[in-house]
Amino acid sequence: MTPSPMNMNSYEGKRILALIREGDYAHAGEEEAIERAFRAVPKNGDSWMLDVGCGRGGSAEYLRRRRWGQVEGIDRDIESIEYARTTYPEIGFHVCDVLDVPRTVARQFDVIYMLNAFYAFAEQRDALAALRKVARPGARLVIFDYALGAKGNAESLAVGGQVFIPHAIRVAEIAAMLREAGWAPGTVEDLSIDYARWYATFVDRIQLKRVEIENVGGADWYQFVFSMYSGLHDVIAQGGLGGAIVHAAAD
Ligand SMILES: C[S@@+](CC[C@H](N)C(=O)[O-])C[C@H]1O[C@@H](n2cnc3c(N)ncnc32)[C@H](O)[C@@H]1O
Repeated sequence: MTPSPMNMNSYEGKRILALIREGDYAHAGEEEAIERAFRAVPKNGDSWMLDVGCGRGGSAEYLRRRRWGQVEGIDRDIESIEYARTTYPEIGFHVCDVLDVPRTVARQFDVIYMLNAFYAFAEQRDALAALRKVARPGARLVIFDYALGAKGNAESLAVGGQVFIPHAIRVAEIAAMLREAGWAPGTVEDLSIDYARWYATFVDRIQLKRVEIENVGGADWYQFVFSMYSGLHDVIAQGGLGGAIVHAAAD
């Protein structure tokens, strides 16, 4: 099969995801997921939080408005950062690959988080080590992401000929990776049941919003989004992929 030129992490892909999710979010579960990921993080107006792979900035704004802390965001996608800067001017956004974060941000952070961004990092251990350099002593790390299921392997994760989720969290290996990168691993929360529910709802929403998606991206984008997310939902429903929140701290 010829690889599709379309990619959900492109600016156009995130724009369509935002339309389907009715907010500037490109992560599973939208606002319910943010609340879940931050349930254990106390609100503190004096703390600084870093949104890594922030995309269009909706999650950073959600947390800032609810006074979880002051927020900055980084993403390597220039167009998404330009959109975020224009739409949420009270937040500092940087165009930056996660590996370059120590050279880009000018402060250290109390909370560093990723919402469906870690799975996209080719060099996850190096990314965690780079983030450790901008963490204050005692800082919290929150990784919300896809997790490889008991029945998951590279083949089962291919959707429409693409490996849609290239580096899902391997729960059995994440603690060692965190330690090697200078983080003290904490609890891991299993979100697999929630992911199955979120993606069933998401596929329904795609169908309901067909006309709007076609107006933004044309019929090809609708077909692409529908087939990718139906396939992803099938992989999740069959136990190949789930979700998790991984907690860690800077010792
Ligand atoms: C699925 S989107 C999630 C965006 C956002 N966290 C949200 O919940 O809406 C993944 C994001 O990670 C960004 N990303 C992928 N690899 C990256 C890297 N190496 N450094 C920085 N950002 C990266 C992509 O550009 C994309 O915006």
